[in-house]
Amino acid sequence: METFDLIVIGGGPAGYLGAERAGKAGLKTLVIEKREFGGVCLNEGCVPSKTFLNSAKVADYANHAANYGVKVSGKATVDQKFVVERKNGVVKMLVSGVKAGLKKNKVTIKNAEAFIEGKSAEGFTVKAGEETFTAKRLLIATGSMPVVPPIPGLKENLAAGVVLTNREILDLTEIPKELVVIGGGVIGLEMASYFSSVGSKVTVVEMLDKIAGPTEKELSSILQKRLAAKGVVFNLGCKVTGIEKDGVIFERNGKSEKVSADKILLSIGRRAVTQGFGLENIGVNLERGAIVTDDEMKTNVANVYAAGDVNGKVMLAHTAYREAEVAVNNMTGKKDRMRYNVIPSVIYTNPEVASVGETEESAKAKGLSVKTVSIPLTYSGRYIAENTELDGICKLVVNEKTNTLIGAHIIGSYAGEFIVSVSAMIDLEVDIENIKKLVFPHPTVCEIVREAVWQI
Ligand code: NAI
Repeated sequence: METFDLIVIGGGPAGYLGAERAGKAGLKTLVIEKREFGGVCLNEGCVPSKTFLNSAKVADYANHAANYGVKVSGKATVDQKFVVERKNGVVKMLVSGVKAGLKKNKVTIKNAEAFIEGKSAEGFTVKAGEETFTAKRLLIATGSMPVVPPIPGLKENLAAGVVLTNREILDLTEIPKELVVIGGGVIGLEMASYFSSVGSKVTVVEMLDKIAGPTEKELSSILQKRLAAKGVVFNLGCKVTGIEKDGVIFERNGKSEKVSADKILLSIGRRAVTQGFGLENIGVNLERGAIVTDDEMKTNVANVYAAGDVNGKVMLAHTAYREAEVAVNNMTGKKDRMRYNVIPSVIYTNPEVASVGETEESAKAKGLSVKTVSIPLTYSGRYIAENTELDGICKLVVNEKTNTLIGAHIIGSYAGEFIVSVSAMIDLEVDIENIKKLVFPHPTVCEIVREAVWQI
């Protein structure tokens, strides 16, 4: 039985990056993945959805080319089969890159289902298919899966292929005529944005009275207006009560309504994967279905770490990357901890939404004394030069006591690309007066941060 310093269970962003970092740090590492390396992010989440959204962006530009003095004859349409094939090519390239990265760092990889059998003097015993291995440490990175609530008709219609999750929708080679999206969160909105651009009639049914969950209120309302202008119908404050093969039944103010659909996307959140691979054999603590970890990514069991969606903290691939690094650093004797207050989040709709840190509301709820500044993106020359719909804004939240930034909320082009500049300012606690001295390239949209800082 081969013994490792570390066995990583799961080959998604937390698992593959953790394994790579561990290999680089000199740990003899094994990573076990039962499906494809790259996990949900590379195969059926972040990356594939971005290939879809880019095709929609190209089509949107082509259909509004006249706004920029460009003549296009006829309407631009999307070849969905081609989009899916291109997506598969992009995924293949990235997955092979992940495997190459693992090999480069001398990580052993197994494409099999892992099962933790228990702990002995030699360490943890893990089966991978027919083989058994031991390791001194474990990194659990089994990810998450879509929440499937007990709504009448849901299970049957999932099995029949009428209801899709993020996995199946990214393999659709035909554009649905009528798509109903259950849940107006990140997945729902990105897919609503894509399918409305490529010709589906899209209806979103959302339980809350706003879209985009914790996104700052004004940003979420700008996004809603823009998507509505593309034809997306929003039913907010509506609870889904039933699914039929041709539509979704929901309740609005106590009254039942039905919206017809040929495809239905279920995107009401994800839950940690903690069952079926022997976690109970080593006594790892769970809370609300997710593994409990501290800010060093340690579980209650010595030498067992958990990173990524499985700990249910912040279900984002970039959080998973950093958590995996923190876990490996702590395993190898380098003190490190997660700082969850500086994790940016991006919604890749058109327009793009990017946020980091506190909103004015959340800061006040924590008893902080804050100043907020909000300016339109039209302060940026490049933004005006490149856009015809000029509704973007940038909001910064400042801690009055420390005179440092604690939050930023931006909607508009490139927001997802430059939000990290604000994350760094928050993380490094840069004084506002010092931010004013930073030189931003001109003309760029990221200059908006400098402009906003000067308005404080
Ligand atoms: P989500 O948590 O973002 O949104 C789910 C939405 O469904 C919420 O607005 C919720 O109020 C609503 N909902 C819940 N039950 C409902 C019901 N019965 N009827 C109607 N609405 C209901 O979850 P989502 O969109 O499924 O995404 C899952 C995870 O994937 C999230 O953690 C997200 O952060 C991550 N993700 C991140 C992306 C990004 O960073 N760009 C892209 C896609 C996913």
